[in-house]
Amino acid sequence: MPRWAIPTLVLLLSLALVPALLITRARSTQFRQPRVHLIPDMDHQFKYKAQQENPIFEDHRAMRLPVEGTVARGELREDTFFYLGTIGDDWATTFPFEITRDVMARGKQRHDIYCAPCHGLDGSGMGTVAVRAQELQEPKWVPPASFHTELVLSRPVGHLFNTITNGIRNMPAYGPQIEPADRWAIVAYVRALQKSQNATLEDVPADVRPSLR
Ligand code: HEC
Repeated sequence: MPRWAIPTLVLLLSLALVPALLITRARSTQFRQPRVHLIPDMDHQFKYKAQQENPIFEDHRAMRLPVEGTVARGELREDTFFYLGTIGDDWATTFPFEITRDVMARGKQRHDIYCAPCHGLDGSGMGTVAVRAQELQEPKWVPPASFHTELVLSRPVGHLFNTITNGIRNMPAYGPQIEPADRWAIVAYVRALQKSQNATLEDVPADVRPSLR
């Protein structure tokens, strides 16, 4: 065997490891630059991203406000009865759609998620959050109103709808979280809760009355 054979063999074997090492490195390292794009398609293009500066405009903001007086498609919300709970200048006293069994079930489900933590499952104002706040004697805690007071009983449904949408006094707004139709469903269920706490014997179907104690 010639003298150079062994060093050459060692050299070639070491070189053979290089591609494997490069691949391992590429797979285990994070790069800030995108990889080489032979055909870039539209992956990389000049554009403004949120919060970037854009010297074209006077205020140098790339993010633009909608032009004043414009309304996004499907967001006109002209129907003040459905969206605001008002008819003319007054709170609506009726519902903008028929209250069916399904609407009531939906209202109960949404109520138990969004309202019951504070107002309680029965609307008495003793939800788990309220009970806990009382236990901790939170100094700034405002107890949630009971739905069964003269005041809330006398509120028109449009007013209750507005209370959910915009909140009232110390109660926060739930409009951003609850769709208008669901807000109406909750109002219907609140009305049912009120009825349940102020019911008379006449509200019970005649054939069921004998079974009451
Ligand atoms: C984070 C707790 C909290 C949640 C959740 C909450 N409320 Fe209230 N709510 C309050 C408090 C507190 C008040 C009393 C506010 C006050 O008097 O300052 C109140 C008051 C009310 C009143 C009485 C308003 C009036 O006419 O005087 C109604 C009705 C009402 N809430 C309905 C709801 C409904 C419906 C939901 C569910 C969509 C809901 N609330 C969710 C805390 C809550």
